[in-house]
Amino acid sequence: MPSEVNRISTLVGAIAPSATLAIDAKARALRAQGVKVVSFGAGEPDFPTPDYVVEAAIDAARQPASHHYTAVAGLQPLREAVAAKTARDSGLEVSPGQVVITNGGKQAIANAFLTMLDPGDEVIVPAPYWVTFPEAVALAGGLPVPIATTVADGFRVTVEQLEAACTPRTKAILFVSPSNPTGAIYGRDEVEAIGRFAVERGLWVVTDEMYEHFVYGGRDAPSMPVVVPELAERCVVINAVSKAYAMTGWRVGWLIAPADFAAAATNLQSHTTSNVANVSQAAALAALSGDLEFTATMRAAFDVRRRRMHEMLSGIPGVASLEPEGAFYAFPSFEGVLGRDIGGKQPATTLELAEVLLEQAAVAVVPGEAFGAPGYARLSYALGEDELVEGLTRLAEALGG
Ligand SMILES: Cc1ncc(COP(=O)(O)O)c(C=O)c1O
Repeated sequence: MPSEVNRISTLVGAIAPSATLAIDAKARALRAQGVKVVSFGAGEPDFPTPDYVVEAAIDAARQPASHHYTAVAGLQPLREAVAAKTARDSGLEVSPGQVVITNGGKQAIANAFLTMLDPGDEVIVPAPYWVTFPEAVALAGGLPVPIATTVADGFRVTVEQLEAACTPRTKAILFVSPSNPTGAIYGRDEVEAIGRFAVERGLWVVTDEMYEHFVYGGRDAPSMPVVVPELAERCVVINAVSKAYAMTGWRVGWLIAPADFAAAATNLQSHTTSNVANVSQAAALAALSGDLEFTATMRAAFDVRRRRMHEMLSGIPGVASLEPEGAFYAFPSFEGVLGRDIGGKQPATTLELAEVLLEQAAVAVVPGEAFGAPGYARLSYALGEDELVEGLTRLAEALGG
């Protein structure tokens, strides 16, 4: 009899099950019973992709040239558009040869760590983190080293914390600003201090600029290789059209890296997925070639909802909400309500709290356990304002606020 042991590889077998799966399944079951669930779980804009982008894709789909492979690293005009857009939006000057077009930001992250890490190399991952980051490091053979931050320190790591986490095996720092899940943004001085620390230590920085346009209240989110140009030789920038143009389903992202690194990442991608869908690349080209008017419209809508959400969360006794500065998420602490009686149940963790809120109030939130931050929960404000108010009203009532 062949052995059933090791049917799944050690590497893939070690991937943590999603802490949100149970909540998702329960929300779906409730909806199937006709319950009107308000979900704060969305990780994407609730807007459709702009028409001019869709039209460009339809045109491309009609052209036989789009029915075939493109270069692995992407259509040349798209790589040029990414270089031009990057110079326009963050001030980073790069050549198209440094750009690799990927299946969303997610593949850019996977490619970056696979290209960078040897077995046992450590990557510092500030927590709360978007759950894919530590898994992408581990799948590339690396060791994610989380650093805890809290609502009290604005969810931003300091150089002192980085220093304490560094070992001789540290290869890279992951940097995300604005952050998913916390909405925190690092100021220019903080970006500079972390960038200089990386340069001094010879560390790589993988910087995720996915939410660069979703900044509020006059803030900006400076790009680390612009603030610290000496970092350019050891820096990988991750970005995508997904959030900025409401294009999560089109699967177009990119990494920007030194030319030798970009060539190696392209080589890797040539043996995994090859080029991104040709029609999707045409859509991304149309998006990036236009202006940022559509993005600004979404930002204005999110800004109104952001303030509303923060105000309503702050009014609930026991909930500590930090005003989100960027992205489209709030990440309040629910520590003050754990143990409270909610419809006869006393949830002791945010994982349990999320279940109880779904059962008692038909409100879905993502428990902080999914982001390495028990005691917190993520609430997306990428949903209609009426629904948002309805959901938060139910949440406040359930918590007795
Ligand atoms: C910080 C961050 N990076 C990358 C991604 C991946 O986005 P994509 O849909 O382009 O793969 C996400 C998606 O939620 C994200 O929040």
